[in-house]
Amino acid sequence: MAARSLGCGVWRLLGSLPGHAGARGWPPRGVSALRRAASGPSGSVPAAGVQPASYPTLRVQAAQQPAAFWGPLAQETLLWDTPYHTVWDCDFSSGKIGWFLGGQLNVSVSCLDQHVRKSPESVALIWERDEPGTEVRITYRELLETTCRLANLLKRHGVCRGDRVAIYMPVSPLAVAAMLACARIGAVHTVIFAGFSAQSLAGRINDAKCKVVITFNQGLRGGRVVELKEIVDEAVKHCPTIQYVLVAHRTDKKVHMGNLDVPLEQLVFDYQPGDIFGCVADIGWITGHSYVVYGPLCNGATSVLFESTPVYPDPGRYWEMVQRLKINQFYGAPTAVRLLLKHGDAWVKKYDRSSLRTLGSVGEPINQEAWEWLHKVVGDSRCTVVDTWWQTETGGICIAPRPSEEGAEILPSMAMRPFFGIVPALMDEKGNILEGGDVSGALCFSQAWPGMARTIYGDHQRFVDAYFKAYPGYYFSGDGAHRTKGGYYQITGRMDDVINISGHRLGTAEIEDAMASHPAVPETAVIGYPHDIKGEAAFAFIVLKDDAGDSDMVISELRSTVATKIAKYAVPDQILIVKRLPKTRSGKVMRRLLRKIILGRTQDLGDTTTLEDPSIITEILSAYQRHKDKKATSQ
Ligand code: WT7
Repeated sequence: MAARSLGCGVWRLLGSLPGHAGARGWPPRGVSALRRAASGPSGSVPAAGVQPASYPTLRVQAAQQPAAFWGPLAQETLLWDTPYHTVWDCDFSSGKIGWFLGGQLNVSVSCLDQHVRKSPESVALIWERDEPGTEVRITYRELLETTCRLANLLKRHGVCRGDRVAIYMPVSPLAVAAMLACARIGAVHTVIFAGFSAQSLAGRINDAKCKVVITFNQGLRGGRVVELKEIVDEAVKHCPTIQYVLVAHRTDKKVHMGNLDVPLEQLVFDYQPGDIFGCVADIGWITGHSYVVYGPLCNGATSVLFESTPVYPDPGRYWEMVQRLKINQFYGAPTAVRLLLKHGDAWVKKYDRSSLRTLGSVGEPINQEAWEWLHKVVGDSRCTVVDTWWQTETGGICIAPRPSEEGAEILPSMAMRPFFGIVPALMDEKGNILEGGDVSGALCFSQAWPGMARTIYGDHQRFVDAYFKAYPGYYFSGDGAHRTKGGYYQITGRMDDVINISGHRLGTAEIEDAMASHPAVPETAVIGYPHDIKGEAAFAFIVLKDDAGDSDMVISELRSTVATKIAKYAVPDQILIVKRLPKTRSGKVMRRLLRKIILGRTQDLGDTTTLEDPSIITEILSAYQRHKDKKATSQ
């Protein structure tokens, strides 16, 4: 067995024989180990020019001094996390078989990482596919990337050290990566021949009590199609331990995806190998961290670094870039969408956007009009629009319409479905969990997920107080959300942005959304301010499109829109037209600044360093001053 498991070193020896070594250029580490083994005690340095030991010598040594033979070979060929202290301790009379005692290694690291460090582009696998002449070469780098991706996916789906995973896949690089991925996280794989029936498959899964099955939609063998996924579906009906079925695609056929099924290809954005992923966030913000740098690079994606702005040199910049770079996934902020929408459709239509498949939005609630524009104009009604909700503290996307079954409904302006491992809970004001559909409350999570924040650097208590105090036992996001009858989530905005007008509690985002449905209004920001009679009243800042027409007319239309869409009490008492809103560099409206301006607390504006353009403060101040003057003269 030992000779077999170290077979790779022996193959290298053969590869290094005259006529092979130079041509293959493989590192002759196994050879030097053998040389040392043959030419002196372990660890001694062979004299320069020592010839490799002959086969008979090696054979005698392996038989007579196993420790001196296998020890250095194992040391040099494999990567040990913990070195072994004893090469062997075996006794056939008692059946004791012990090799490399005390040593620990991860075989996937020995198989992949050590080669990737030295020669990442060496071909690891040549996949001779069923269709003759269509072979595919996979480099060590590619195999490591796929393995890591799968290993992470398995971990995300609760596969832990010691858990069993069934691999029901025909011979393919992905099947190899699945094996190595299991080895990498310490899971036990059982590779089941992809010609077995549903009954045989179920028997093997049940014997091993597997948690997960990995399979393909279909297999191809000898020109025949094998319906692997259908067979798995049938088998897992009788396998109570199976929690997930991970499904990759060997052919184009779409297969039915049920509750247990998880597509293996990327998840929210439908990233496929070779795609160009265009997240236009700045790397100074979390979106840039997770979706420009770490996420795409960990997944071997091609990530676009966008240095510019959406309107430089003109409002067609994004779409010109999409055309030129052939971007497949575009991920941006609603604020930019609203800004571009204001400039009209011609800037978009001018460019070829046929490469786009997924359009993502993040950072704020995306209002209906912006969502529709992204969908209809940018995406030509053919792209998947994903409104993704998450926060700096969550590390990555928590609620998004995908992953879900191919073609599953996507409702406008809604993040909709919790991502894997995310278990939302909505709470009422008293901290009771709201069950069922058609309820609104504080958005909390009842379970931890791998990417979430672990602490606040240097102040763990602050972390506990900020996120875990309001609702004991739950992570509190600070946002409010509505759960529909269908079980989908819609974010209503920060809980701090809830105002109470004459006893009616409503999110300022609701009023903003209603006003932004007006064709002349791309952007609004609503804040609450103290009111003698109503308790609080709404103050709206609005930006008008270039061709908005008569502004008084727009304002009166806005009042009636809010009255009909929400209620009369929600109509803002004051509406002020501004050229632009104060925004952070990540695109969030700084409502706190607007509130301070309205309250006259301009000496105490707080930290404004994250403002995209600090000159906005005087701009808003003077607009507000004019507004007050106008009100005073008209009274
Ligand atoms: C806050 C987090 C997430 C990365 C960028 C911002 C708001 C974010 C959405 C969305 C409604 C959203 C929330 C959240 N938010 N995405 N799709 N729909 N609101 O990260 O600066 O930590 O801000 O942004 O209010 O709590 P952040």
